[in-house]
Amino acid sequence: MSHRIGVIPGDGIGHEVIPEALKVIRAAGVELDCVDYDLGGARYLRDGVVLTDETVDEWRGLDALLLGAVGTPDVPPGLIERGLLLKMRFDLDLYINQRPFIAPDGSHNFIVIRENTEGTYAGEGGFLRKGTPFEIATQGSVNTRHGVERCIRYAFGLAQGRERKHLTLVHKTNVLTFAGDLWERTFNEVALDFPDVSTAYNHVDAACIYFVENPQRYDVIVTDNLFGDILTDLGGAVSGGIGFASSGNLNPDRTSPSMFEPVHGSAPDIAGQGRANPIAAILSAAMMLDFLGETDAAARIQAACSDSELLTGSTSEIGDLVAARL
Ligand code: IPM
Ligand code: MN
Repeated sequence: MSHRIGVIPGDGIGHEVIPEALKVIRAAGVELDCVDYDLGGARYLRDGVVLTDETVDEWRGLDALLLGAVGTPDVPPGLIERGLLLKMRFDLDLYINQRPFIAPDGSHNFIVIRENTEGTYAGEGGFLRKGTPFEIATQGSVNTRHGVERCIRYAFGLAQGRERKHLTLVHKTNVLTFAGDLWERTFNEVALDFPDVSTAYNHVDAACIYFVENPQRYDVIVTDNLFGDILTDLGGAVSGGIGFASSGNLNPDRTSPSMFEPVHGSAPDIAGQGRANPIAAILSAAMMLDFLGETDAAARIQAACSDSELLTGSTSEIGDLVAARL
């Protein structure tokens, strides 16, 4: 069965890593019917389009989306991030951001489940008396019972299917007494439905130390949007570098297509030089295949991507090496 995929290479190294991911998928014997979308900073500079509601509606008929990276230095910071990436996550209700971290030497293997539609990313806040000495800026964090519970439930389900069956909640309950309370209460309540999953709690600052000093303690982590954003860059840094970090923006209910993307950005400093590591994009594509039910191909790609030989080489050399292993 062929899958209909929307492909958004985006900007910068997105154009270099996405072809390698597609090459590897083909080498794994999976047929894709790809629809290309020219979106990102470069497109915006050309005709002012970031992402229209019509395009989002068109995507609803697809099986999944594969994105490279978006953003160019000559576009105001945040414009493409919010107008494209966050709009995708919000409009398609991709409420889970799943980011696996496997050390190249296999010494740790954990997954961060980041809530992907709420928290500080919901954009609550505003200015008062902007530009005056009495200016006030507030930035709220939106945490709904529904949003927190569906994220935590997903994380428990994921942990239950893994060997260690261990789930850690990461938050900052000692200071964020409202949002933290909701997260902790919901976590403890949902835990009752998963008696075979062992649980733990870490404050986010302590988790940063453990990520560096003892990442083996983790199996699955669940956390809010902003903590998850920050922690997963650190997760990448301690797991072979950000060039290895893959992610899936998932709608587990499958009411809309999920979107898969490497955690790294468009890297304008090295774009066009063939130096970007395509492994993050390849592993994101493998996650996509897994989500589409191509579990065998996904597992074979993952197995072909797990050693330190893939830390060096040009973009296409690394892509070729993985493809040859399949
Ligand atoms: C990520 C990115 C995005 C985020 C940015 C580009 C808006 O850093 O996917 O982690 O903060 O979620
Ligand atoms: Mn990030």
